[in-house]
Amino acid sequence: MEFSIRSGSPEKQRSACVVVGVFEPRKLSLPAEVIDHAAHGHLSDLLRRGDMEGKAGTTLLLHNVPGTLADRVLLVGLGKEKDFREKEFRAAIAAAVKTLNETGGFDGTLYLTELAVKKRDVAWRVRQAVMVALEVLYRFDRLKSKKEDVRRPLRKLTFCVERRNHLTPAEQGLMQGQAIAAGVNLMKDLANLPSNMCTPAYLAEQAQTLARDHGFDVEVLERADMEKLGMNTLLSVAQGSREPPKFIVLKHSGGKAGEKPVVLVGKGITFDTGGISLKPAPEMDEMKFDMSGAASVLGAMKAAAGMKLPINLIAVIPATENMPGGGATKPGDIVTSMSGQTVEILNTDAEGRLILCDALTYVERFDPACVIDVATLTGACVVALGNVATGLLANTDSLARELLDAGQEAYDRAWQLPLWDDYQELLNSNFADIANIGGRTGGTITGACFLSRFTKKFEWAHLDIAGTAYRSGKEKGSTGRPVPLLAHFLMSRAAIKP
Ligand code: BES
Ligand code: MN
Ligand code: ZN
Repeated sequence: MEFSIRSGSPEKQRSACVVVGVFEPRKLSLPAEVIDHAAHGHLSDLLRRGDMEGKAGTTLLLHNVPGTLADRVLLVGLGKEKDFREKEFRAAIAAAVKTLNETGGFDGTLYLTELAVKKRDVAWRVRQAVMVALEVLYRFDRLKSKKEDVRRPLRKLTFCVERRNHLTPAEQGLMQGQAIAAGVNLMKDLANLPSNMCTPAYLAEQAQTLARDHGFDVEVLERADMEKLGMNTLLSVAQGSREPPKFIVLKHSGGKAGEKPVVLVGKGITFDTGGISLKPAPEMDEMKFDMSGAASVLGAMKAAAGMKLPINLIAVIPATENMPGGGATKPGDIVTSMSGQTVEILNTDAEGRLILCDALTYVERFDPACVIDVATLTGACVVALGNVATGLLANTDSLARELLDAGQEAYDRAWQLPLWDDYQELLNSNFADIANIGGRTGGTITGACFLSRFTKKFEWAHLDIAGTAYRSGKEKGSTGRPVPLLAHFLMSRAAIKP
């Protein structure tokens, strides 16, 4: 998809379709009024006759509107003006792009980016518009033998801004939106791929390709390397599978030499059967998405590189299957983690924390500015927060605040849960230093408590994306979350340089 920014009058645009908004009830937005004027009241006549109310989600496609140079004019309902916020803005862009893609024109010129959104500037509006447009147009059809082909697909979108001095920030927003969407799409492609194709080795190859494309340093540790390092909790998960585990390290050195890196750690379980603590059959296919943390971290690296962020950034991905093979770990088994702490594995389905804890110990060597791990860690998080907010737990409130703010800005929101010491005792074990589960209550918090035992040496936050990384049911598929949140966090980290 090609994108561009423009400023100018809507009636003078030579385009397959000019898109303008209508508020409810029957109130033309400014660019719509300009067209109405050029068309001697054509639009207001239509509204008066009841062709459109302006309800959110509705559209009306018009041909040969008098006084305009475009082939078509698309009216998009915006809902009530007083209620028009981020969510409504995104819905309007989505409705416009969907309609444009279905109505045969090769290009569209959107005036929706001129709409005022409370507290949001033009860069935000354009950035979001690009991300929403590419979200609507995303397809994963590489494994269908017959592609559903759009007859005349949309090829170009132009976003209009009201003033010439908005052109530069809009161009900036456009560049950022495209870079973030490229990261989102990378995550979706990886996570949507089934586990017989997206293996740990495949993730490692993809990381290598990404490194080649963007100039990252890359290193992939093999089972023998992990054995030497004493990554026994990670290896205890891998030992039930025939797929060799991989431990992937990617480095983007965009910042000053010697500046502490931000480290992202992504859970890379390419399929989670539960192991010997086997999961029930219904929806087990969705456990191919259990590498969404890994995919999001690769997506965030791609976004950061696309924006050329002046920041030192490292991505670390422990990747393995969780299978119940003959050599699999059994409930009650005790292993010594890379940190030296012993872990009693009471439930082999709590495997995410077992691979992450060794990765969190490994990253100490980077002397990180902060560490953020991303994981589809607990079903309990889906119960607590549903599919709207990502769960966030952190060992400092300032890092939690930064991530919450980044989520708001990105419209990829997180919600903080407490990491109080009072929860730690739930992980007590009779036989080892710590158990890998904490009982039936507070599952997301005890999962994070487990990880917190391995993050004493740096500032750390944990994102539980079990509810937000993918959709179930008819719309089953990866959402690309939390790539936008991570990208916005990195953007603000890159800007607060002394
Ligand atoms: N990958 C799952 C978490 C999950 C569940 C993600 C549902 C998305 C949807 C994780 O490895 C897991 O199985 N967690 C267990 C932990 C429990 C045994 C303490 C869970 O949530 O049941
Ligand atoms: Mn599991
Ligand atoms: Zn899992």
